Amino acid sequence: MSDYIALAKENYMKTYATQDLCIDHADGIYLYGTDGKSYLDMVAGIAVNALGYNNPKIKERVEEVMKDGFFHVSNLYYNKWAPEAASRLNRLSGGSEVFFANSGAEANEAALKAVRKYGSRTGRTKVISFNHSFHGRTYGAITLTGQDKYHVGFSPMVPDIVYAEYNDLDSVKTLIDGNTCAVIMEPVQGEGGIIPAEMSFIKGVRKLCDENDMLLIFDCVQCGLGRTGKNFAFEHYGVRPDIMTLAKAIGCGVPLSATVAFDKAKGIFSPGDHASTFGGNALATALSLVLFDELENGLAAEAARKGEYLRSGLEKIKEAHPDKCSEVRGMGLMLGLDLKIKPSDVIAKCREKGLLVCSAGYTVLRFVPPLVIGYEDIDKALSIVDEALSEL
Ligand SMILES: Cc1ncc(COP(=O)(O)O)c(C=O)c1O
Repeated sequence: MSDYIALAKENYMKTYATQDLCIDHADGIYLYGTDGKSYLDMVAGIAVNALGYNNPKIKERVEEVMKDGFFHVSNLYYNKWAPEAASRLNRLSGGSEVFFANSGAEANEAALKAVRKYGSRTGRTKVISFNHSFHGRTYGAITLTGQDKYHVGFSPMVPDIVYAEYNDLDSVKTLIDGNTCAVIMEPVQGEGGIIPAEMSFIKGVRKLCDENDMLLIFDCVQCGLGRTGKNFAFEHYGVRPDIMTLAKAIGCGVPLSATVAFDKAKGIFSPGDHASTFGGNALATALSLVLFDELENGLAAEAARKGEYLRSGLEKIKEAHPDKCSEVRGMGLMLGLDLKIKPSDVIAKCREKGLLVCSAGYTVLRFVPPLVIGYEDIDKALSIVDEALSEL
């Protein structure tokens, strides 16, 4: 164990089950540990590093920002990068206005406050979320998260947030009453186990929101920004949200998140309603433009092609190991292999063989590599997973 790991164990709050691996440097889609080993990375900082590591465009942009002598000036003043980032994001998504913060949880907090403010016009407070969802770890966000394990020990939760069953429209209908002002959902549930929404379900939720004057929030923190093979996962379904939240990939590895309001949700906040010291700082928003450039140049379509390739490889693995695998799920390069054995055993075996993968839910092996991964590296990852399953 390197000294870094010992130092962390001694000094960190014990919130993470971090593996005993410290990353020394990175290049392309490989991470290099202080253990002297190289690792093919199918985790990407948990669906963050879409453009891979040591990316020359990212390095150049950091230098360009630093030439001006600052990363941050607060929202008391404008900087030269955030306005363009907001405008490009609105153009890409069809949104109308953007609030920048630093994490997915914060983006969802902003969305929750926005729908409560919207509801306050008509005295409504109730928000419907879903079982197996994940929206982050701040109080509003864990309450929106429909998984009991995140609530245990932290009661009381934020009031008037209730949970329907994902992909079950009737369960949503049952929860709607005169107090309901919004629904929040992930178009593809990520942490809950890589579960895409069914077409009729997501369209049905949109319709229910329209009929009942409720705002629809799509949490695209994990499934946004090219990962599913479209710029935003909702584009697969031909439905639009009233509010969308983004984080993870948007800052190219630097903390940044966005809450995007579409037409109906425009103008909910007034000055003083919401804020973030670091939100929309020059460094993070300058880096988001590097990603937006790539999205405008077809990054999502590339992810769709590679995702199909990875998916067909995973299907073959599933067929070769019917005793250990049950289903391949997901879209683009957000894929899950549902296992009949413990994901942690497969993760450990893959790591021994130089491949990093992570889990989702209790049974799913998750694949969320950099979107710039090459076909040869997909082959390599697949053969390591195949070997690992054979040996377990
Ligand atoms: C769908 C979704 N929403 C929100 C979050 C929370 O993001 P953050 O950890 O940046 O607060 C996550 C994180 O995994 C997520 O997957």
